[in-house]
Amino acid sequence: MAGCFITLEGAEGVGKSTCVPYIADFLADRGHEVVTTREPGGTAIAESIRHILLWSEEETLDDVTELLLHFAGRRQHVREVILPALARGAQVICDRFTDATHAYQGGGREMPSQWIEFLASIVHPDLEPDLTLLFDMDPQQGLKRIASQRADRYESESADFMARVRGRYLARARADRFVLIDASQDELAVRDQALAAIERFLDARR
Ligand code: TMP
Repeated sequence: MAGCFITLEGAEGVGKSTCVPYIADFLADRGHEVVTTREPGGTAIAESIRHILLWSEEETLDDVTELLLHFAGRRQHVREVILPALARGAQVICDRFTDATHAYQGGGREMPSQWIEFLASIVHPDLEPDLTLLFDMDPQQGLKRIASQRADRYESESADFMARVRGRYLARARADRFVLIDASQDELAVRDQALAAIERFLDARR
């Protein structure tokens, strides 16, 4: 089977990152080479950019700078990790990708969709996820789950920002490649939904 690009998306505290190793094991057990990665990040340069995006405190990060930094890191990540892995037939599981930019910078920060689409066309022409699992739940419940951790720039955003993020994700989820996961359930139930979606996806590709 050719390499597949699987992305996991959702607002804060939805439990998608917890599911990554389960999905990786599920695919590896079926004989696939699996690459797990994340955005922002995934390469040394992109992880440095992630640090700026999540933890800048000494200076206000301008919205356009933020948008460009997400795409700068993504370009490194696509070229260095994602495309080479797909080319050798690996299954790539990526914790967030450009749908997150649509949700957070487009929805949350209310930046024009055309800017995001234009940058995506430069940074990853012809690359779109084959499958996207959208972990959905009330964003305030998600934030409560992670309340004991130190909040980064995004986790510190307002309830309105988070509602716009969720709304934009749900609007994008009308595309066929999305599967909606009810992330309000307990960890095991969420994991089972995610693995069932992966199994259906593999069956459909056979
Ligand atoms: P994480 O908490 O899932 O590791 O993601 C880091 C944060 O980065 C998360 O709050 C969402 C945010 N983000 C964006 O705002 N735009 C993007 O394009 C990506 C990939 C993430």
